[in-house]
Amino acid sequence: APGAAEFVPDQADLDTLRSAIQGCRGCDLYRDATQAVFGDGPSRATVLLIGEQPGDKEDLQGAPFVGPAGKLLDRALEEAGFDRSMVYLTNAVKHFKFEERGKQRIHKKPGRTEVVACRPWLLAEVARVQPRLIVCLGATAAQSVLGTAFRLTKQRGVLVDPGEGDFAGHRVLATIHPSAVLRSRDRDADYAGLVDDLRAAVSLAG
Ligand code: URA
Ligand code: SF4
Repeated sequence: APGAAEFVPDQADLDTLRSAIQGCRGCDLYRDATQAVFGDGPSRATVLLIGEQPGDKEDLQGAPFVGPAGKLLDRALEEAGFDRSMVYLTNAVKHFKFEERGKQRIHKKPGRTEVVACRPWLLAEVARVQPRLIVCLGATAAQSVLGTAFRLTKQRGVLVDPGEGDFAGHRVLATIHPSAVLRSRDRDADYAGLVDDLRAAVSLAG
């Protein structure tokens, strides 16, 4: 597959990008998903948050973070002191990857090929929004922005320099994914850790 680059219109605003993405054939994920889920939030947001990929609810509704992980994220953002007008929410991969089990659609982690294929959409969003801070939620987003050598366990909740490459010059912070909090055996501690990292993000963006 060619990757998304040839499907991304040049110099387009967010609304134009949001409609163009429905025609993307940059990898195979468009085949089984309901629709592409583009980012959402004000074009002047100071913080751009990146998740992994849309889930079942997001795929059906066409908006990011509207399912259970999104509810948890909303609560954590509010507790950390984020104002919704500060936040643009998106994902590293824009189509839902899943496996059918009976009538359930079970989330499948996107592979490196899909993350790389979809990155032009993410880059276009970053170029339009020009956030003061990029927050990566989980390893998939972190590795899309910071490269495959990045380890969340070693560098979370602090400012990271993306170095040379597509994200050069941006300020980046990584933390755990809200879905990891939902799956955790120590949910309270992991939730508190997420809120702490988001508090650090608020002050870095201020
Ligand atoms: N998980 C994500 O990473 N993104 C969403 O939009 C929803 C759940
Ligand atoms: Fe295009 Fe990304 Fe969807 Fe693949 S996942 S088809 S690259 S929008």
